[in-house]
Amino acid sequence: MSRKILVTSALPYANGSIHLGHLVEYIQTDIWVRFQKMLGNTCYYVCADDTHGTPVMLRAEKEGITPEQLIDRVWHEHKTDFDGFHVEFDHYGSTNSAETKEFAQAIYRKLKAAGLIEVRSVEQFYDPVKNMFLPDRFIKGECPKCHAKDQYGDNCEVCGTTYSPIELINPYSAVSGAQPERRNSDHYFFKLSADTCQQFLREWTRSGTLQPEAANKMQEWLGTMGENKLTDWDISRDAPYFGFEIPDAPGKYFYVWLDAPVGYMGSFKQFCNANNINFDDYWKQDSDAELYHFIGKDILYFHALFWPAMLQHAGFRTPTKLFAHGFLTVNGEKMSKSRGTFITAKSYVDHIKNTEYLRYYYAAKLNGTMEDLDLNLEDFVAKVNSDLIGKYINIASRTAGFITKHFNGEINYTQVENTPEFKQYDEHLRQEVEKLYEAREYAHVVRRIMKRADELNEGFDTLKPWVLAKDPNNHHQLQQRCSLILHEFKVISVLLAPILPVLTERIAKEFFGLNRNFVWDDAITLTEKINPYEHLMTRLDPKLIEAMVAANQESLQPAVPVQSEQRHAAHQQNEVKKEMTETSKESESYISIDDFMKVDLRVAHIVNAEHVAGAEKLLKLTLDIGEAQPRTVFAGIKSAYDPEKLKGRMTVMVANLAPRKMKFGLSEGMVLAASGDTPGLFILSPDDGAQPGMRIK
Ligand code: MSP
Ligand code: ZN
Repeated sequence: MSRKILVTSALPYANGSIHLGHLVEYIQTDIWVRFQKMLGNTCYYVCADDTHGTPVMLRAEKEGITPEQLIDRVWHEHKTDFDGFHVEFDHYGSTNSAETKEFAQAIYRKLKAAGLIEVRSVEQFYDPVKNMFLPDRFIKGECPKCHAKDQYGDNCEVCGTTYSPIELINPYSAVSGAQPERRNSDHYFFKLSADTCQQFLREWTRSGTLQPEAANKMQEWLGTMGENKLTDWDISRDAPYFGFEIPDAPGKYFYVWLDAPVGYMGSFKQFCNANNINFDDYWKQDSDAELYHFIGKDILYFHALFWPAMLQHAGFRTPTKLFAHGFLTVNGEKMSKSRGTFITAKSYVDHIKNTEYLRYYYAAKLNGTMEDLDLNLEDFVAKVNSDLIGKYINIASRTAGFITKHFNGEINYTQVENTPEFKQYDEHLRQEVEKLYEAREYAHVVRRIMKRADELNEGFDTLKPWVLAKDPNNHHQLQQRCSLILHEFKVISVLLAPILPVLTERIAKEFFGLNRNFVWDDAITLTEKINPYEHLMTRLDPKLIEAMVAANQESLQPAVPVQSEQRHAAHQQNEVKKEMTETSKESESYISIDDFMKVDLRVAHIVNAEHVAGAEKLLKLTLDIGEAQPRTVFAGIKSAYDPEKLKGRMTVMVANLAPRKMKFGLSEGMVLAASGDTPGLFILSPDDGAQPGMRIK
């Protein structure tokens, strides 16, 4: 039975550009949505710009335009970026819409009627020159702890202390430079501490809506039963503010995070209006449609606490599940402007053009957890060239010629067709991959498909079609076998379609001559003919990456205030790291953090361990570190370990050691072990919970 599914990605802020970090989320979501659509489910994907708040207001003012002009310009930039990466929303709206406003106000009225809104006087810093209350991020001053100057109102970048802006010494407004006054003003609070919210959120957490790590976080926030850890949420800001006015409260505006998630509804409403879809089917309390929010782990708090509590008490349905993901690092570190790794979507397109490389790479790294994910630029080039092109595309490019030249493009596997194995195999593979997509285990999808590609390439090598082609007596076999390989190429193309929509559309239409895109069932139907092979994808030239990084380094700009505190914390960590690197350079007997980071240590799952015939000291280990292919490592630990006992264990390996050709084969890394003066050799184990591929740092 076809499912009804509504999917969202977080709404990007309208005061910044889309960068490769954002794209982790939008690509992850887009793959899932495309997969659902291919399956034949009714699945809508909506998103919007998150437009309100002080930073947008001040930036527009600085540029001498209205906030509306600013957000309109950014909307078009964002839309172009998403189009470039083939992120295909059914609707991309804006939170600054009549629809969002209406829902925000309606929800507020319901909450108020339920007794969940309270007005309280709050003392805050006020800028007497700009005549506005100052958000924490717009107050600076001297750190009360280490006395560093010019620190932000919420924490010190030098010593890391967090505090309230009231504690700053000699505070000043980052907007006007004026000395702020402390003033009282009425604020509106959503009473999250109310019993009904607590109870609801405890139940909601338990009902399978969250990934295990997210559910743990929730437990932390909620506290143990009987404990009341939630505090009321300040949902109002005073004029001047770019946002929606609170009903019956002149001069008071909804805090941006109140109407941001409501933007999911507003955007969907616009889509419904334009397409004659019943909005209530998806949002009424007893809706049988599924609702999923893809979000970054930094905004879990807003989506797991405030948002469901708001919906529940305003009489709407709550999300079926939240899918939270981790953060992107580039070359093992937080994206950084000084290193040129803070790469915008536009800059990627300008330099590299083909955005399916990145879709493929992210897919090869993504799973259903909140773990961070690393874009290692060298590995990026290697994976694209060796796997995507060298393995996958290679199947078609080397096989097609034989069918085109000798058989006029006719696919014929009448002989093998009657052996049921390969059809069963296709069906199996499809089911396996289907489950993995559903669970957002894309890395596993890619690994599985690349394994198949390896088999097909090996089959081709063993077949030696170039030899068969020479003798007409062998042509029957040549056609049968090459047909089968090309059929299997189609199968994996269908399975890769959610990840590589543009490439596979060309393969469907141009190579297989279908006059439509692939559908999921194409993965189990037989192929009839092919058209001559035409070049499908160019290798990724590492020089393009270098140029992109250099260009981003050149365009280094002074830091601008960031919007979320979490993002700020990340930035801060980065700066601390940088400082540590700089100071340690002075001392020769130490290595710098950068030196250490050069060693890529990974958690490895020992998939297999075996004796090596003729080797005295070595065991052959097969290690899964979350890559498409497990690594083979020869480790000198035979004296200390029985291979049978190693199987299934987790350990630690150096993943970026240059591969070494040994007598017994290629060793692709090193396993770490402790030894000392006393006998014994001890390999390492990570603590429970560590996953294959996690970086140790
Ligand atoms: N406007 C809010 C979301 C409101 S949703 C009702 C916001 N915007 S954002 O532009 O800062 O981020 C948008 C999404 O991108 C968030 O889910 C965020 O976690 C994600 N990412 C932003 N930087 C990221 C990385 N470096 N890595 C992975 N995801 C990142 O938050
Ligand atoms: Zn300090």
